[in-house]
Amino acid sequence: MSKRITKAIFPVAGLGTRFLPATKAIPKEIMTLVDRPLIQYAIDEARAAGIRDFIFVTARGKSALEDYFDSAPELEASLRRAGKEELLEILKSTNMDSGAIAYIRQHKPLGLGHAVWCARRLIGNEPFAVILPDDVIAAEKPCLQQMVEAYAETGGSMVAAMEVPKEQTSAYGILDVKEDMGSLVKVSGMVEKPAAGTAPSSLAVIGRYILSPKIMQNLGKINRGAAGELQLTDAIAAEMEQGRDVFGYRFRGQRFDCGSKAGFLQATVAFGLARPELREEFSQYLTELVSMRNAAQ
Ligand code: G1P
Repeated sequence: MSKRITKAIFPVAGLGTRFLPATKAIPKEIMTLVDRPLIQYAIDEARAAGIRDFIFVTARGKSALEDYFDSAPELEASLRRAGKEELLEILKSTNMDSGAIAYIRQHKPLGLGHAVWCARRLIGNEPFAVILPDDVIAAEKPCLQQMVEAYAETGGSMVAAMEVPKEQTSAYGILDVKEDMGSLVKVSGMVEKPAAGTAPSSLAVIGRYILSPKIMQNLGKINRGAAGELQLTDAIAAEMEQGRDVFGYRFRGQRFDCGSKAGFLQATVAFGLARPELREEFSQYLTELVSMRNAAQ
């Protein structure tokens, strides 16, 4: 039987240069969709999947993330005095049990694989999850929970997977599929950001992983890969070469690439429309906007 997954790594050390100047002063993970920062969506998804230990791999300039998950006694006292119970309730999702969250600094930006490796001492000998907060996934059942359920049957290591247009394969880790079983695929290889025309399929890795602790050893051995960085994809590919199973999981849900401006805007619209208190006013605005644009053309 596969082991329960209780630890998750959140690589949050990236500079977020695509969102400058905003990210000059705030971590990109604090940027908000409607009223919740990206990191909150990631934490909520992890909690729903049974994660109890949250490991942030951070860097200089990211202390707003630590404040966000700390208690805020003055704010809470003033809300309590004003009888704002509903706001106190909203704040609860930012509370972490003492000791549930750990911060590790990645001292040099050597890539995603290196960021995950930085957490090796806290992971020990247990399988663990990795969530990339840039990939926001709207789903009835949260994506990581779907994967934890599938993993209970398969064991091994597992990555979230999604078909992408052929011309976009060079922006992703791409799976070489050995056996396609529908929502699950058995993988025979993985390539990080393959050059145009060389991708083994159009099935891309999306930022949710359940990994065997042996990955940490591979991460300690691999050489720099795509973009001169230590790539998580390469360490997972080494797993397969060592004869261990790796699966891709085609999740049910809609993924937004919140690491890009267009994806972030799409997510803002989708999450805004999904809010009962905003839906009517916002969809009316969007309808008017589209008809005005059409009339002007
Ligand atoms: C990372 C991974 C890549 C994966 C992607 C999903 O790349 O290295 O394998 O396909 O996330 O969002 P990044 O987008 O950080 O360059």
